Amino acid sequence: MINLTNIYLDKKIATEVQKVLLSKSLVQGEKVRELEAEMSKVNETRYAVVVNSGTAALHTALVAIGLREGDEVITTPFSFIATVNTILMCKAKPVFIDVNKETFTIDPDLIEDRISKKTKAIVTVDLYGQTCDYKKISKIAKKYNLKIISDSCQAIGAMYKSKPIAKWVDIACFSFYATKNIMMGEGGALVTNNRKVFEFAKRFRQHGQDMEKPYFYHHLGYNYRSTDILAVIGLSQIKFLKKWTKQRYDNACKLIKGLKGIPGIITPNLRVEGEHVFHQFTIRITKDYPLLRDQLRSYLFDHGVRSGVYYPCVLAEYPFIKEIIPYNKDMYPVAEELSSQVLSLPVHPMLKNSEIKKIVSLIKKGANEKN
Ligand SMILES: Cc1ncc(COP(=O)(O)O)c(C=O)c1O
Repeated sequence: MINLTNIYLDKKIATEVQKVLLSKSLVQGEKVRELEAEMSKVNETRYAVVVNSGTAALHTALVAIGLREGDEVITTPFSFIATVNTILMCKAKPVFIDVNKETFTIDPDLIEDRISKKTKAIVTVDLYGQTCDYKKISKIAKKYNLKIISDSCQAIGAMYKSKPIAKWVDIACFSFYATKNIMMGEGGALVTNNRKVFEFAKRFRQHGQDMEKPYFYHHLGYNYRSTDILAVIGLSQIKFLKKWTKQRYDNACKLIKGLKGIPGIITPNLRVEGEHVFHQFTIRITKDYPLLRDQLRSYLFDHGVRSGVYYPCVLAEYPFIKEIIPYNKDMYPVAEELSSQVLSLPVHPMLKNSEIKKIVSLIKKGANEKN
């Protein structure tokens, strides 16, 4: 079976984990601090705080900017549920803006019309590892004095105009979940240049505890601490970030070349201003392809290739969200169309050329399967 993701874990990493276990320093110790230093380096920021998930990073970031009940946050309806849930966790109101068909990310040209007196922030999502249009978004944020928090959970290492995402936003959030480009099973981090945000985040991940005085609490917080056992896995992976990103990119280019010209198959857009890190290689299957998206997915699976649908519906469609923000079909026409068309194919760094050829040839053959 050709898997959609392939986790890199070997005996060396297992030995590093064993060393941490035997050191008996398991939580928020040296390895967590080392990973924070690496995250600052990779993202070119002054500060990084490692937490126990991407969700925790997003929640921390939103509270750190002072988001309160009744505030509005502009975001995309085409993302993983954590993007909207963390806004709801702050009792703020998500305001969904449709996405751009080419990049799958928030359409900056639609943002200004939806800004109100209550708007506090924009949460961008660098979906599949493709960066948003940060030039336009940061211009709008400046004009209306809004904070930008990036949900870069899928985009570690991605650049926009040759700069890390963190250079374009107030706080960038990452996930180290088991399937991510850099993973440690569970984990996350936020990076920023803002000292106040940094200090707040360090307290918030430990119930609001003072950084120097144990058992002295300044404000509400959560247990968002991470462990050295996991951080050492992250450290052993992050040193391969550049190499793996290049392998993902090369694999994506081979897939794009192979799939070129198949009617009804639209491959991802390689924009020059945004360096895509291909967490997912996501194609669109339109009506010009003889199989429906889900039929192609089954066909690939039956022939030994796993694929994924991210995401099968827009966030606004979930019943519990509909209760908060009324939703009718066609409110987000691009995102809605994409959710019925997208299919992510294997692109991970360990993919072999023969496997890429097999994927391409199956999609070509699939076109003739129906009859
Ligand atoms: C776009 C996006 N946002 C947020 C998250 C949440 O990260 P985590 O699963 O580490 O909480 C993920 C990862 O699953 C994600 O893909």
